[in-house]
Amino acid sequence: MTVVPAPAEALALAAVEAPAAPRRDCGLLRFNADFLRDPYPPYAALREAGPIHWSDALFQGAWVVTRHNDVEAVLRDPGLSAQRTAGWVKRAGERTHGGTDGSAAELRAFQRLFSRAMIFLDAPDHARVREVLAVGFHPTRIRALAPRIDAIVAEAVSERVAKPAGAIFDFMADIARPVPSRVTCMLLGIDPADQNDFIAWSDDLAAFIAAPQPDTRQLRRAHRSLLAVVRYFAGVLEKRRHTRGDDLVSLMLAAEAQGLFRSDAELLAQCAMLLLAGHETTRNLLGNGLNALLAHPEQWRRLRSDPSQVPAAVRDLLRYDSPVQYTGRRVIADMDLCGQRVRRGDLVIALIGAANRDPARYSEPDRLDLTRRGLTHFSFGRGAHVCIGAGLALMQAEAVFARLLQVLPDLVRAGPPRWNGNAALRGLEALPVFRRTARFTDHNQLRLALSR
Ligand code: HEM
Repeated sequence: MTVVPAPAEALALAAVEAPAAPRRDCGLLRFNADFLRDPYPPYAALREAGPIHWSDALFQGAWVVTRHNDVEAVLRDPGLSAQRTAGWVKRAGERTHGGTDGSAAELRAFQRLFSRAMIFLDAPDHARVREVLAVGFHPTRIRALAPRIDAIVAEAVSERVAKPAGAIFDFMADIARPVPSRVTCMLLGIDPADQNDFIAWSDDLAAFIAAPQPDTRQLRRAHRSLLAVVRYFAGVLEKRRHTRGDDLVSLMLAAEAQGLFRSDAELLAQCAMLLLAGHETTRNLLGNGLNALLAHPEQWRRLRSDPSQVPAAVRDLLRYDSPVQYTGRRVIADMDLCGQRVRRGDLVIALIGAANRDPARYSEPDRLDLTRRGLTHFSFGRGAHVCIGAGLALMQAEAVFARLLQVLPDLVRAGPPRWNGNAALRGLEALPVFRRTARFTDHNQLRLALSR
């Protein structure tokens, strides 16, 4: 494999190495159990208290922006960089015996690969890689996948239909996990038989990337899983060099042959990124979305009586409980941001989940309203890094909800959902549901039946 020096990391490291200026924690952001269950009250407090706050709870300290217009401005600002991995890795590495146990070299290797993923690149590298991937995510190409996505969804849902009414199943395990992971396999042209490995690897990477303050265990697991992903894709690339297909990996190999990728490592980094970005987020859209719908039975009924509203409904579900709650940027040079002087290397967190509930933008923002029209949500980001897979995610969510309404219209929650404890990639670990029958009309009856 060609080894090429990592892209400039000086900026991200500046934040770690520069002596910290005294800053006071705003005291409004605590990632405790209450927050992980319902982050929206603390978001409202932050939004109301001012446009920008310092929080010690995020990484090694960060500026936090919550209002709609400010989040939009941050995501579009060319004065803010997407390169932000070195600080996380270095910080987590310091907790691994100060990096003196040989982990430092491991961490550097991890960081090198990680930082090449498009989501962490700035112009001009970002534009070069995005141009390659944009071909694979072209709307015509994505639309052509519709029949195959429908078939994947139909298969996952029909197994549940075959179960007797009243039987409890976990929507996350049975539908929300397998559907996006099968679609990701299809997109990348990899064997669906390997999907359980992917889910495990990608869960480890997500737990690290999305932790406000990743610990040693999370770093170690993410490192191990990233190496497993790299080994796996190195094998896939080798085989695909001989037999190209109509998938994203083949497309990236063709781009590499034209010199559009700088190294194998750069190509592998995109494979690892797509694996993670593709299904973790979509799984959370399906889980958070169904959870919100079943918690608002009148909205579920309304949708059932007019399934043509599903595409509009998915938009408000995305706004209401976004699968990606925040993203970050680094300050390139000292500047004023929301009336605050911020310094080169500072981390800025754009709280997408808070912007999606800003009353200055949405009327009654805490109300799920599937009939909302014309108001765009922030859940796919904005600016140069706006989600490239949005069309694919929407297509999957629309297919799943439409199919559920059609064949399992009497779905209800069988108990409280279990949250995944991830502040950035907010989602559910488990969502127990069942089909209501004449016998089980409420939870008490269900509980009684279960205890027998
Ligand atoms: C509901 C599902 C999804 C949500 C909520 C979501 C959200 C996001 C957000 C907020 C960003 C911007 C991050 C930033 O600015 O730092 C992003 C970027 C990205 N997403 Fe998604 N995403 C979803 C599904 C997908 C899918 C299905 C794929 C691919 C199969 C994908 C691939 C990507 C990639 C590659 C980027 C980086 C784009 C760039 O840096 O230019 N996403 N996504």
